[in-house]
Amino acid sequence: MKQITIAIDGFSSTGKSTVAKQLAKHLGYIYVDSGAMYRAVTWFAMQHHFIEKDHFHIQDLISNLHKITISFKFNPELGFAEVYLNGKNIEQQIRTLEVSSFVSQIAEISEVRELLVKQQQKMGECKGIVMDGRDIGTVVFPNAELKLFMTASAETRAKRRYNELIERGDNVSFKEVLHNVQSRDYIDSHREDSPLTKANDAIEIDNSNMSLEQQFNKIRQLVETKLQENH
Ligand code: DC
Repeated sequence: MKQITIAIDGFSSTGKSTVAKQLAKHLGYIYVDSGAMYRAVTWFAMQHHFIEKDHFHIQDLISNLHKITISFKFNPELGFAEVYLNGKNIEQQIRTLEVSSFVSQIAEISEVRELLVKQQQKMGECKGIVMDGRDIGTVVFPNAELKLFMTASAETRAKRRYNELIERGDNVSFKEVLHNVQSRDYIDSHREDSPLTKANDAIEIDNSNMSLEQQFNKIRQLVETKLQENH
């Protein structure tokens, strides 16, 4: 059967990666978490002190972007690909609230976007890919056969992210997680370069009141229809 490209966009913690992983597994497609790539650049910037409490050394980061190699390696135990920066697994490091609090500002830098978008388009050259992010249906794969735009209320999303962080053992308050979610929403949808917007041909899924199973069944039907159309 002919393979298609599936683009999943939406605000943070809308469950994009959960559904993307489910779909990739169901279809035998590659899954790429594009947010992890922006997080990897953020981690690199933190490690090299290009990010300090009150100051971003943006020019220094830009002139060091050539030193960044991001790759994904499938972890059969977890059932998805983990992100590597220059050969080192940084999957755990990039999920902290500290990285989350800087990543939207890193994602505003056009030179960073240009570099990562090129790599993402290369990964999708042969189709058979599910990629989630903020600009996948609008910029990375404008011709994707299926585009989904996931939404849920900020409180629902903050609760999900808070539970994830607490489960990992991070010491965070619900209030700071909610603040992080809301401030990332604002920056992601107001930046000049590739702001988060719903592509005209994307299908909106509000999962505030949907179980994971209900959501997957709905999306699976959309995929089946697209696969038949592109047969
Ligand atoms: O999906 P996430 O929360 O891991 O993404 C982290 C940040 O990266 C998010 O705040 C915005 C940015 N991002 C982006 O600008 N474009 C993408 N395609 C993916 C993520």
